[in-house]
Amino acid sequence: MERDKFSSKFGVIAAAAGSAIGLGNIWKFPYITGKNGGAAFIFVYLICIILVGTVVMVSELSLGRRAQANSSGAFKKLKPSSKWYYTGYLAVATSFIILATYSIIAGWVLSYFCSSITGKLTTIAPDNLASYFETLTGNTPMVLFFSLLVIIITAFIVISGVQNGIEKYSKILMPILFVTLIILIIRSVTLDGAEKGLEFLFKPDFSQLTAQSVLEALGHSFYSLSLGMGVIITYGSYIKKEENLASLSLKVIAADTIVALMAGVVIFPAVFAYGFEPGAGPSLIFITLPAVFQGMPFGSFFESLFFLLVGIAAITSTISLLEVSVSFLTEEFHMDRKKAAIFLSAGVFLLSIPAILSFGAWSGVKIFGLSIFDLFDYISSYIFLPIGGILTSIFVGWVWGTKNAFKEISNDGLYSFKGYKFYNIIIKYIAPIAIFMILLYSTNIIKL
Ligand code: PFF
Repeated sequence: MERDKFSSKFGVIAAAAGSAIGLGNIWKFPYITGKNGGAAFIFVYLICIILVGTVVMVSELSLGRRAQANSSGAFKKLKPSSKWYYTGYLAVATSFIILATYSIIAGWVLSYFCSSITGKLTTIAPDNLASYFETLTGNTPMVLFFSLLVIIITAFIVISGVQNGIEKYSKILMPILFVTLIILIIRSVTLDGAEKGLEFLFKPDFSQLTAQSVLEALGHSFYSLSLGMGVIITYGSYIKKEENLASLSLKVIAADTIVALMAGVVIFPAVFAYGFEPGAGPSLIFITLPAVFQGMPFGSFFESLFFLLVGIAAITSTISLLEVSVSFLTEEFHMDRKKAAIFLSAGVFLLSIPAILSFGAWSGVKIFGLSIFDLFDYISSYIFLPIGGILTSIFVGWVWGTKNAFKEISNDGLYSFKGYKFYNIIIKYIAPIAIFMILLYSTNIIKL
């Protein structure tokens, strides 16, 4: 049977950018930028994206397209009778665990969206927003409901297939996301006092920068581009032979970075204009922003729009996370697509239950000093993801070989790919070493 493929160039870009653009851009990027002092952090982040992100992205796409297989099958096909395919197993495990925690946060977002549409959120006094957020996260049945909703929407799209599901919905949702962002930017930068927020974002103060922020920037660039988790390998396998992978990667990376910056331009001018702290951390969009919207004319309209935007961004990412394990089961174990998606979604939902409970009845349960939610997040984003990234870079750089990757990227020499030398050095040496540093840092083996 012919493999399902993305049908158009715009479809590929929408789907891959849809995966890359998510909570990482609109929720995490602004708060880690806020925590790390603003513009100088963004500057380092951009360097990480340009140096390492582009190279690993084009490598993962080329692996997938050459092998025409899922994240594990790709390693098996390109290096038969070796154990490299375990890298794909790791990718499946990583994307599965991330999906469990990701759908919880996306569930909070949907719940905020509903309470902003009904106007409930604007009736809560700013001083009570922190306890509102805590009450929501601790309300297990409610969070179970909204996370399940996220998983059901995700499964529905994935079951519809690559072209009729992932591509079709990404093509609709990504333009809506851009338009929404632009409306919100216009609102935010025209507030009195918005300049301070723009200055915070774009005027670097390098004295704020620490070695820790450099590693955080590198780690986030991987997460934000959906690298190291088999997603881009899987999507690469759905790209037609005639597409130019280098130019596709650049477009996806540009879209991802622009959206992260745009989210910053929505959030910080408003935060500064109303006198809030930029370094509030993970609660920035759940506690600080609702207070900001309350002070704004037509605040509840803009608030609904904002949470709709975050919800859309999250769903186009959850579908890519589920697709990794669905393609794995359908191709490696010949399972029917629908059955695989339902089976895996049920598994993700079951896995998310203890993580949800860790904000409620199980809040006292600590494993290695972490709550269950934090443990899942730590294992997947800080251990498995960097290991996946290192193994993928080593595989492309040393095992499959940069010559083969180069052939695939350039479509057997049809497209010029000027950066070969640069590519070769980064994928062989810089990427694995730099990602290894993240791993050492996040496991506390090196302390900064
Ligand atoms: N890149 C997504 C974001 O920035 O929110 C998160 C993500 C999606 C990570 C898919 C990994 C992945 F495979």
